[in-house]
Amino acid sequence: MSTIKVHDKTFATFLSESAINEQIKRIAQEINTDYKGKTPLFIAILNGSFMFASDLFKELDIEAQVCFIKLASYQGVKSTGNVVTSIGLDVSLKDRDVIVIEDIVDTGKTLHDFLPQIMDQHPSSLKIATLLHKPEALKYPLTIDYVGFSIPNKFVVGYGLDYDGLGRNLREIFQLAE
Ligand code: IMP
Ligand code: MG
Repeated sequence: MSTIKVHDKTFATFLSESAINEQIKRIAQEINTDYKGKTPLFIAILNGSFMFASDLFKELDIEAQVCFIKLASYQGVKSTGNVVTSIGLDVSLKDRDVIVIEDIVDTGKTLHDFLPQIMDQHPSSLKIATLLHKPEALKYPLTIDYVGFSIPNKFVVGYGLDYDGLGRNLREIFQLAE
């Protein structure tokens, strides 16, 4: 097992490039089957999902569209809690088969706050695809339709995921070393 250093922390090899590719191919096959004859619209959530979105999209053999959004959460001015704003959601979702692409679902808060905004536009269907899922960390009820890996509740970096802005360029996924 090899280790790397990102900022001040040490990370250990966790998911290899080939294991990641294998799971992406499996998810793509499922989507190719489930959406045969349809033209789904993928909404990839930046920044973390850019690599997963790109590699997944290349494996699709159905007609498909993709757009990218960035979510910004702000502390509520009043006591309304966090607001999630979608920046760049410039495509109509009405009557579309929407698939949201995430790098990782941790507490589930990001999606829990964002999915109602999608539903407001009345898509004909809505599914979620995430490369990584930490079931032990989930705090908000969420049905995830396509999961690459269910992983333990430990911080990971690489393949789009960052630690304090760094590590996104790594081809493998590394886990915080104890
Ligand atoms: P959630 O809203 O708690 O589900 O968190 C979702 C977001 O937190 C993800 O899209 C990531 O950007 C970030 N995140 C959660 N866990 C990790 C991790 O282990 N490494 C890097 N980023 C993470
Ligand atoms: Mg993210």
